[in-house]
Amino acid sequence: KAAYSTRSASCHSFSEVLLSNAMLSNCLCYSHTGRKMPLVGLGTWKSEPGQVKQAVIWALQSGYRHIDCAPIYGNEPEIGEAFQEMMGPEKGIRREDVFVTSKLWNTKHHPDDVEPCSPKNLSYIVVVLNLNEFNSAVECKREQRNSSVASIKPTVLQVESHPYLAQVELLAHCRDRSLVMTAYSPLGSPDRAWKHPEEPVLLEEPAIAALAKKYNKTPAQIIIRWQTQRGVVTIPKSITESRIKENIQVFDFTLEPEEMNQVTAVHRGWRYIVPTITVDGKSVPRDAAHPHYPFNDPY
Ligand SMILES: NC(=O)c1ccc[n+]([C@@H]2O[C@H](COP(=O)([O-])OP(=O)(O)OC[C@H]3O[C@@H](n4cnc5c(N)ncnc54)[C@H](OP(=O)(O)O)[C@@H]3O)[C@@H](O)[C@H]2O)c1
Repeated sequence: KAAYSTRSASCHSFSEVLLSNAMLSNCLCYSHTGRKMPLVGLGTWKSEPGQVKQAVIWALQSGYRHIDCAPIYGNEPEIGEAFQEMMGPEKGIRREDVFVTSKLWNTKHHPDDVEPCSPKNLSYIVVVLNLNEFNSAVECKREQRNSSVASIKPTVLQVESHPYLAQVELLAHCRDRSLVMTAYSPLGSPDRAWKHPEEPVLLEEPAIAALAKKYNKTPAQIIIRWQTQRGVVTIPKSITESRIKENIQVFDFTLEPEEMNQVTAVHRGWRYIVPTITVDGKSVPRDAAHPHYPFNDPY
């Protein structure tokens, strides 16, 4: 609450609902559809075929009920196999209890493009997102204008967010419109291919390490807890059994309001997932000069 003391009363009550749901059941509700969406899901980008099926099985066995996928990740057939193996009558997990996100690439705008992208072996998809934050951010800003013509009101905005990119203004914008925010690359995407040695390493941030020591948790757990406690869904990716288990064990402690603020304060407007090009020997954002480039705005 203290972290958002400048926000409206309606914002407070929305976040309180999310928080109490998080504490009780690891779920939150879409305020305008009533659907439940688990606050922690398993990311699957970069999880190779040969690894991802086992990762999804470990996740489901560890209590995850939210898997984040996309055809562009090239691994949905194996994720489908894991679902077939783990879900169904007498298998312990009901398919309707698992929240599956998939995403269309940004060129797939026509209704005819949706079906071929909807992976049949995943058999049920709860959310289809447009796989492009650039577009999503623009869409979110235009959401109010679009809502008068949109036949389906958006429910989730998936964007990059972590302590170095706290997205405080965007989160307030989402709350004001009853949109759920999902944070991708919540741990700073340390396995991204274009990692550069000069980039800040989120998991080594001293303020987060201090909290990890205090609570006998890992930096990853502090980061995930910070997001869930402010009502943001996170989808950390892992193919490592111990980390998959670790990343969902964030519901047995609570950060103090000033500690929430301490994590938010390490924000430095840093984006790990942005295309860059080299100009005059310097790495710069590829599209920053475009008139609709959204990342020059505070959200
Ligand atoms: N909508 C979009 O455009 C978009 C963009 C980017 C990402 N995403 C989604 O968001 C998911 C997460 O983002 P991301 O994959 O970029 O990165 P991330 O989740 O921030 O980081 C994943 C990396 O962190 C490691 N890791 C996981 N848990 C850890 C822990 N407890 N301690 C230390 N290291 C840990 C993983 O290693 P191991 O796997 O080796 O354990 C992996 O190298 C993606 O997988 C994808 O589903 C969506």
